[in-house]
Amino acid sequence: MLSELMNIVFVGHVDHGKSTLVGRLLADVGALPEGRIEKLKNYCKLNAKPFEYAFLLDALADEQAQGITIDIARCFFKTSKRKYLILDAPGHIEFLKNLVTGAANAEAAFLVIDAEEGIQENTRRHAYMLTLLNIKQLIVLVNKMDLINYSEGRFNEVKNEFSTYLGKIGLLPIVYIPVCAREGENVARKSNLMTWYQGATILEALDKLDKQAADEDKPFRMPIQDIYKFTNENDKRRILAGQVSSGSLQVGDEIIVYPSGKKSTVKTIESFNALLQTSVKAGYSTGLTLHEQIYAKRGEVIVLAKEKQPQTASTLKVTLFWLGLKPLSPGKTYYLKLGTSKTKSVVKEITRVIDTSSLEILETASEVRANQAAECVLSLFMPIVFDTVQASPAMQRFVLVDEYDIAGGGIIQGYIEDKKSRLQEHFKSRNIHWVTGEISSEERAKVLNQTAHLILITGDSSPDLRKKFAIDLEKALFLQGKFPYYIGMANVKHSFENLETFINSPEENFHQFCQLLNILLNTGLIIVATATNLTNEDLAIIKMSTNQNNITAFWLSDKSLPADSEFIYLDSQAPSDKLLLHAQKNLNLTSVAK
Ligand code: GTP
Ligand code: MG
Repeated sequence: MLSELMNIVFVGHVDHGKSTLVGRLLADVGALPEGRIEKLKNYCKLNAKPFEYAFLLDALADEQAQGITIDIARCFFKTSKRKYLILDAPGHIEFLKNLVTGAANAEAAFLVIDAEEGIQENTRRHAYMLTLLNIKQLIVLVNKMDLINYSEGRFNEVKNEFSTYLGKIGLLPIVYIPVCAREGENVARKSNLMTWYQGATILEALDKLDKQAADEDKPFRMPIQDIYKFTNENDKRRILAGQVSSGSLQVGDEIIVYPSGKKSTVKTIESFNALLQTSVKAGYSTGLTLHEQIYAKRGEVIVLAKEKQPQTASTLKVTLFWLGLKPLSPGKTYYLKLGTSKTKSVVKEITRVIDTSSLEILETASEVRANQAAECVLSLFMPIVFDTVQASPAMQRFVLVDEYDIAGGGIIQGYIEDKKSRLQEHFKSRNIHWVTGEISSEERAKVLNQTAHLILITGDSSPDLRKKFAIDLEKALFLQGKFPYYIGMANVKHSFENLETFINSPEENFHQFCQLLNILLNTGLIIVATATNLTNEDLAIIKMSTNQNNITAFWLSDKSLPADSEFIYLDSQAPSDKLLLHAQKNLNLTSVAK
């Protein structure tokens, strides 16, 4: 049965023949549609262009424009052993994007070197990237052997030189193959011009690659892409949609959503345009409905309760490589994307920087420049879910986005325990043990005609002003037919102050406040809460505790908003009715139609 699929990536310096090799391989194994080559040859003749096998991939790209399935970066072909998905990466960024976005979780790489030109910077860099992405199966192709008269001596020279580099980075290639893409020597057939070489052809080497522990045998991981609601009147179910990155799952399985730790069991496995299924496995996109409704959001990860659990942390030790034009620098904010999650991150420390070409190590670098690799510590705004071993590499690889562009990527090597991750653990175990009643948040929302919402008011204005403003807002919302409830952090403090056992530190006080907000929001109310001088960090903790998206956080002050603030500025000197209006404009309080 031809069910096994292996993802392969072709990398190497510009013009060393990656596309020609892929084109030639497709042609020689008969993976191209009938007449494709003739058509292209005629086209080249008419346009007075020399025929190039690389054009075959461009021709396939045209096909995609017409809505057919193949695209330039990805092409499929099969041998008697299995199916292959080949990714021909035109440049660094595409290579990186494809690997990290999961378009190609490459299991093996072919690195192409022009025999005449020899090893170039990008040859070394690409090899280095492979180690950072944990791609261990490497085949080196020494191409354009025709240009050097199929010389064994030159082949060995390239091989020896490159082996020295690879040895230093701990990458041991399976084989070096001398090839000529243009003539098809050692591509799909053994070359008669290089009888000195007794090893495998590209095709044979492909089939000899090891299929790593199939992703479906690894622990189940499904990053949530989206949540859909059934549109049917009485159907309260929600569908949690996403692509399974590893493992498999069955109807009836107990699941936990990370990082919140909310538990439920799988009721149905929906699939698009198909009948209901009883199981789903790695590589497939699916939608799950659950017996007990839980609040989950994009970026969270569904795992199986009985399997190995992923890690959750907010201070990460990573190895990354940088491609951005602007150097990576400590203190600067980048978005970190892993799976479907996205969170702000700051570089806390650059531990060391490595020049990926010369392998020179800089222990005291103050920034990471394009084409350098580095070991860094990243501090995240919110904890994320990841795996360092065992599960799919997709749960370990990340990219960093500088403004709008992917500027770097790498893998998570480990984490450092911090306050946020300890709290996240605490909230998670609270959620795992929480016993809920039978009324869902949707049912509550319908009766109250509102969805739960947290309105936070903080800042450096006087406490009295904040309190007055919150109470006015509560009243205004109430008069509009909502169910709001005002609570000040001071109330919480006074509630617990006299208990002998309670150690009343400001930190404890804040945590009690976070717990209370979680309970109050569960009741479906709109909570108007005040607290002094909350920081972005505090806001992250409130989000972790309440696991809510419905939070609007205001900063009431007569000075300007602190730099990088996550809050919405309210000028406390504005007349109170204007201030109230301004605040209400920023609130997105959804009503639930009856
Ligand atoms: P980029 O996608 O730009 O990075 O290049 P590439 O690595 O895909 O190289 P491509 O396949 O486009 O080949 C570059 C040039 O090398 C083309 O003109 C090819 O015809 C030529 N070429 C590729 N393989 C061989 C070969 O085996 N022998 C000779 N003589 N030329 C080759
Ligand atoms: Mg190319």
